[in-house]
Amino acid sequence: MSERSDLQGRHIVLGLTGGIACYKSAELVRLLTKAGATVQVVMTEAAEAFITPVTMQALSGRAVVTSQWDAREPNNMAHINLGREADAVIVAPASADFIAKLAQGRADELLSLLCLARPRERCPLLVAPAMNREMWSHPATQRNVATLVADGTLILGPGCGDQACGEVGDGRMLEPAELLDDLIAFFQPKLLTGRRLLITAGPTFEPIDPVRGITNHSSGKMGFALARAAAEAGADVTLVAGPVHLPTPRGVKRVNVMTAQQMYEAVVPHASAYEVFIATAAVADWRPANLSEHKIKKEGKKLAPTFELTENPDILAAVAALPKPPYCVGFAAESENLLEHARAKLIRKRIPLIIGNLGPATFGRDDNALLVVDAQAHHALPADGQPVDKLTLARVLMQELAQRLQAVQA
Ligand code: CTP
Repeated sequence: MSERSDLQGRHIVLGLTGGIACYKSAELVRLLTKAGATVQVVMTEAAEAFITPVTMQALSGRAVVTSQWDAREPNNMAHINLGREADAVIVAPASADFIAKLAQGRADELLSLLCLARPRERCPLLVAPAMNREMWSHPATQRNVATLVADGTLILGPGCGDQACGEVGDGRMLEPAELLDDLIAFFQPKLLTGRRLLITAGPTFEPIDPVRGITNHSSGKMGFALARAAAEAGADVTLVAGPVHLPTPRGVKRVNVMTAQQMYEAVVPHASAYEVFIATAAVADWRPANLSEHKIKKEGKKLAPTFELTENPDILAAVAALPKPPYCVGFAAESENLLEHARAKLIRKRIPLIIGNLGPATFGRDDNALLVVDAQAHHALPADGQPVDKLTLARVLMQELAQRLQAVQA
């Protein structure tokens, strides 16, 4: 995802404080710049003990600032200029000591000074803690973090796992790719804050015997992109995924299933607790009526085996027929007559919205073109019908969904 230009035009001040996680910040600069941002690195004296300004300058393409007395600034006010120019300040890694300093509003070196002096309404502060688990769980640190949150600071992480000190627990800095995703999400409009979304994605796999089964070419990419876009927009998202090897988007709760029946059970009994249900999964319509306990052997057989198939439940139609259904969005994967088939499915499944796409043209690909169809009208997405990447499409769909939800509830 870092090949996308999600941070194009954004100017980020990246502050480094003392901690072994400074080595990860070098990678973070690369990811931020690849995503289109310009990055101004600011380092405390303690950070310089872990990584050199030379490395950070080479990666960011800008001279690193380390002192409030830096005479290169014409007005000698680095602490004011840096905050005024930035779209966000992110401190990664943030040590326990630096967090304590921020909580108290102290400003005895450049980084804490600029955090205090930045125009708060325009230039948010994001902090990625990195420390030993005892330091993180100490009541003093927890108190300081609570103060930062109350002051409007966004805390990113920390993660859990192996620590440089040999211990295992909470306190690791998030990985650079996770910090990038969190920063990108931070800049997305919060159109679905507090909304609960349930999404199905991927294919299902219907076993014939312990080693074989019936499945399809769905990659799950569109559903995963929708889950990510919904979480970025502030929604509380549950993703019920068929067998795919895609990473779970940040902040999304994932439930893995294999068969259509399992997907049905993971969705239908819980669906009324959600405001929106989006069915992107390519659910197998039929499954073998009888599952062979052992592998079906070729040996000694003259004729190829035949299977009886039985119909799978229609998950989307079942959710739409609940006494208190969520707002249901279907996906229609077709190979021809997109509008006609999509509209027929909308009526048959009794749902307010269906998104049509051409299955063979989209399965497994990173881009797609959609047709948004409701009972009265339809329109292409993007408007020119030219495929764009699935995350961009998903974000536009979330805007459209937010508007439709408002209209329904008005
Ligand atoms: N769907 C579902 N459960 C099923 C079959 C489909 O929830 N057993 C959902 C899909 O997730 C999708 C929509 O219904 O949102 C349409 O799926 P599609 O496979 O295109 O349509 P079908 O109803 O299976 O019709 P057909 O196979 O005839 O095209």
